Amino acid sequence: MSAQKFEGLADTPALGWNSWNTFACNVDESMIKEMADAMVESGMKAAGYEYINIDDCWHGERDAEGNIQVNQERFPSGMKALADYVHSKGLKLGIYSDAGHTTCAGYPGSRGHEYQDAKTYAEWGIDYLKYDWCDTENINPIGAYTTMRDALHEAGRPILFSICEWGDNQPWNWAQDIGHSWRISGDIYPCWDCELNWGSWSSWGVLKILDMRDEVRVRQYAGPGHWNDYDMMEVGNGMTPAEDRSHFSLWAIVNSPLIAGNDLRTMSDTTRDILTNKEIIALNQDPLGVPGMKYLHAGYLMIYVKPLENGEWAFLFLNRGDETLKYTHDWQHHFEVKDDQFGHSIDFNHDSFTWRRLWEKGSGDTEKPLTLNIPAHDVAVLRLTPEA
Ligand code: GLA
Repeated sequence: MSAQKFEGLADTPALGWNSWNTFACNVDESMIKEMADAMVESGMKAAGYEYINIDDCWHGERDAEGNIQVNQERFPSGMKALADYVHSKGLKLGIYSDAGHTTCAGYPGSRGHEYQDAKTYAEWGIDYLKYDWCDTENINPIGAYTTMRDALHEAGRPILFSICEWGDNQPWNWAQDIGHSWRISGDIYPCWDCELNWGSWSSWGVLKILDMRDEVRVRQYAGPGHWNDYDMMEVGNGMTPAEDRSHFSLWAIVNSPLIAGNDLRTMSDTTRDILTNKEIIALNQDPLGVPGMKYLHAGYLMIYVKPLENGEWAFLFLNRGDETLKYTHDWQHHFEVKDDQFGHSIDFNHDSFTWRRLWEKGSGDTEKPLTLNIPAHDVAVLRLTPEA
């Protein structure tokens, strides 16, 4: 049997939580269990979230046979017991490794141990592997990620394979048959439009990541089973509610995996309401699997559109600016919407839709112009349904 990636694991983008953005290296089994509990109690599981992902720093040393072990102090019960616990909650467990000899935080990477590690993860009951790109000088990325894909396949347990290569080698050109998603950027930072320069690398605000791969129109490479990963979310990690709403809506509409990165045990009601907005999540999880596209960018206004199943569409109006934006959208004026890459279109001169606003919950139709007052850094998101 030739090696391949596991099909059917990401027909729509993954929904979950990851430890890195809030906890960095401070991971341990009680915190992870509490996060699984919180995912259920907060309503996130009911809203569709599934994965509890441990990022870097869970590792101990390799044993005499080269088998990777957990850090005994942080995970005294072992990874198998933790996976059992997470599974008992109806959730799935994710783990992290790296294509080089060491991870980004300096723990053992999988280089030269790919088949052995994949087997270990399968035995532990792991469901998701994020595979990073530190310490990989002179390694061919296609080869390295293909090796781990093949190793996972050989190990036999369906494990979602999340490529974390930051977009350095344009994974959108080669990763469709290798992984279920690929990062398109360096690491996110909880700010609206900043760049934090660390010398040889930068962390990026929400708008920076949103715009980063515009020139290659990265959406065209994504589809069921293989998604652009805009990085784990910073909702609830210090931005304003408007910024969090926009961040969440944008990640949803471009079909990024929606991986929360906040402390689910202590989040505010506002944060929880954003992360569990089922109508926004439904855009991301729409079975058609077509990522949203940039339709208009004029000054501070940006409009994204996304074709949905059954002739429905999503429209997202983003105010990138620092003042409230008054804008009237005349559907008949902007009558033509064409998604040439995926072959969908609207002609508002012929097609009428009713719409529903997914944050404020108002409704209307496309016969009349839509007048919006979008607060600074906020969004208006509409779902359009064809009129019978
Ligand atoms: C890299 C990744 C991050 C995180 C850290 C862990 O920076 O891009 O998402 O996994 O490593 O060390």
